[in-house]
Amino acid sequence: LVLSFSVCFCITLCCNTCDDVREAYRRRGWAFKNADTIEQCKREGFTQRMQEQKNEGCQVYGFLEVNKVAGNFHFAPGKSFQQSHVHVHDLQSFGLDNINMTHLIKHLSFGKDYPGIVNPLDETDVTAPQASMMYQYFVKIVPTIYVKTDGEVVKTNQFSVTRHEKVANGLIGDQGLPGVFVLYELSPMMVKFTEKQR
Ligand SMILES: *[C@@H]1O[C@H](CO)[C@@H](O)[C@H](O)[C@H]1NC(C)=O
Repeated sequence: LVLSFSVCFCITLCCNTCDDVREAYRRRGWAFKNADTIEQCKREGFTQRMQEQKNEGCQVYGFLEVNKVAGNFHFAPGKSFQQSHVHVHDLQSFGLDNINMTHLIKHLSFGKDYPGIVNPLDETDVTAPQASMMYQYFVKIVPTIYVKTDGEVVKTNQFSVTRHEKVANGLIGDQGLPGVFVLYELSPMMVKFTEKQR
């Protein structure tokens, strides 16, 4: 006796919400363009919400703890994810022509302050001349020791910076993503200051 059978588990999980649909598109690598043709998105007023937000910016603050080796961090639009070990951002719902990377860096430092420290990126105000600009800040960190008159030692870092900018041409990685990238490396030299007696 041969018993043959087949079972089909037909589970339809996708998609209750517009976000579910976007996520499914993203996983497939499909462009998410005509939200208005997608029932869930139409119902949720996705296009209208995008329109309402289209001139908004955002303010980001916080701190990062990193190892004392070269590295980078970035601020870029779109949900980020890994694809074949590459860090990518989903910009499909924005369109590359609509991304304005105008930015103001209020403050950036690598460690504690000491009297007279200069953080050269503070109050950097950059207006993007065209859409989808990629800004790269190449930062050279110089470990610094500041010794106060009372003997207190502040271990911190100074840095110098050069900025590069270009029009981003793609969506992947350091090469072509619109955004603000900070790429830092550590100087092998260390500077030591001793506070003067007043
Ligand atoms: C980006 O936005 C800034 C500030 O609103 C504006 O001055 C600039 O012209 C815009 N750039 C582009 C390419 O639209």
